[in-house]
Amino acid sequence: MFTRSNRRTLAAAVVCAGALALGTPAMAGAVPAHQASSQTADEGIAAKAADKQGQKSQGRPDHAGQPGKPDHAGQPGPPDHAKGNGKGPGHGGGTDAPGQTQCQFTPEGGAVEGAWERDSLAGVAPEDLRIGNIAAGGGHHSDADYPDPFPSDPEYRDHVAQEYSSVTHENYLKWEFVQPEQGVYDFEQADAVVAFAEVNGMDLRGHALSWHSQNPDWLEEGDFSEAELREILEDHVRTVVSRYAGCIDQWDVANEIFQDDEAASIRDSENIWIRELGPEILDDIFTWAHEEDPDALLFYNDYNVDGLNAKADRYYDLISEQLERGVPVHGFGAQTHLSMQYGFDDSYQENLQRFDDLGIHTAVTEIDVRGEVDENDMMSPEDRAGAAERYATVLQACLDVSLCNSFTIWGTLDAQSWVPNTFPGEGDATLHEGDYERKPTYCILQRTLVEHEEGASAWKDDASFEECRGILEEAGV
Ligand code: XIL
Repeated sequence: MFTRSNRRTLAAAVVCAGALALGTPAMAGAVPAHQASSQTADEGIAAKAADKQGQKSQGRPDHAGQPGKPDHAGQPGPPDHAKGNGKGPGHGGGTDAPGQTQCQFTPEGGAVEGAWERDSLAGVAPEDLRIGNIAAGGGHHSDADYPDPFPSDPEYRDHVAQEYSSVTHENYLKWEFVQPEQGVYDFEQADAVVAFAEVNGMDLRGHALSWHSQNPDWLEEGDFSEAELREILEDHVRTVVSRYAGCIDQWDVANEIFQDDEAASIRDSENIWIRELGPEILDDIFTWAHEEDPDALLFYNDYNVDGLNAKADRYYDLISEQLERGVPVHGFGAQTHLSMQYGFDDSYQENLQRFDDLGIHTAVTEIDVRGEVDENDMMSPEDRAGAAERYATVLQACLDVSLCNSFTIWGTLDAQSWVPNTFPGEGDATLHEGDYERKPTYCILQRTLVEHEEGASAWKDDASFEECRGILEEAGV
């Protein structure tokens, strides 16, 4: 069981990750010097931060606490405790002492009360599986009639910290936010999410270091030579990864690099990096990121890879080749944006498993299951039941695949989700109604976790799960 009470307490050792020593251009929102180099006055909070460092290493195969292993990405590492199968990407440089980097963001406030209780998702998840959600803000929220939820809504933040053990910046780490002008980095919003995760003992998924979307105009419309573009990319990757070294556990290093055509060809017109620098640039991006944080797990991430299909095949081939060449790639993320309007492949688990068999991690990085909605923004009862089933199937697949280490839901409340905005007429894709009441989808995930960890009788008999038992009964799920 993954609760705060069973975390190790360690003495706080807060060291600067070196992010600010890179001589990078002006960084708005940079961490104050005192924060980067000294312990906070509040020892309780400092202990929690250190505690998180201890907790974070658990269940992360093959890097924490095993300094000095040879850096053979992709070769099975020595047996360890990772979900009991002893596999792992074996990454972490031989000389760069993996597990040593400490996050420079020391907690300043208190942790949210009532987090990861027994009647929460993170509270019943296995220790080696993080359940995540997003720090909502930026992107489509900027055009909405409400302020960004993460920075402005304490109830939202409390909810995320109470229910989840991992958080992903929905938009704040994308290029258009982080480098809005050439050479001018703005980390203000991203830093706040990292600090929030640190104080609440949550893991972080970094999203994303390279993508074809949400790039700033100066980049997309600029007239740069190949050499200049390469320099721009390298500077960005090194600046961002080093800043969050020891804080961000997994990075989506390359997002959505294959297209949806039959051959799933590489995105060589939309993706500026692949178009201008060739697909070989991917090796470099992973390598730069790894050099800046040897502890971070480095992922590919994409949608429509929810089974054994052409796009997933392309990733399988590319990753296999990169591992052969010793490129530090450690994970494959299936975004898992599903719609009840389309079918669902029954080979979801088989797909994850083949990446697992390569010795790399997998993750469900952005799941939501949407459908056509009525005037109350609800799917039909049949679609709701079907959506709950899909959520559960994907979670079960992740539970059953050894190195599937996180399951992240892309949104909390439907009113704020990207779905209605992006897919007109569709919605009802998240786990909660407005006001945070639980949907059957939430409860089926809780049941799946409890039954996996403790068996069917714990689910049936434990008074902690009464609310969800009632919701599922009423929904007939
Ligand atoms: C979405 C955000 O949720 C929106 O706020 C934004 O307007 C567009 O991007 N795949 C990804 C995510 O990798 O970054 C996308 O997030 C959803 C699809």
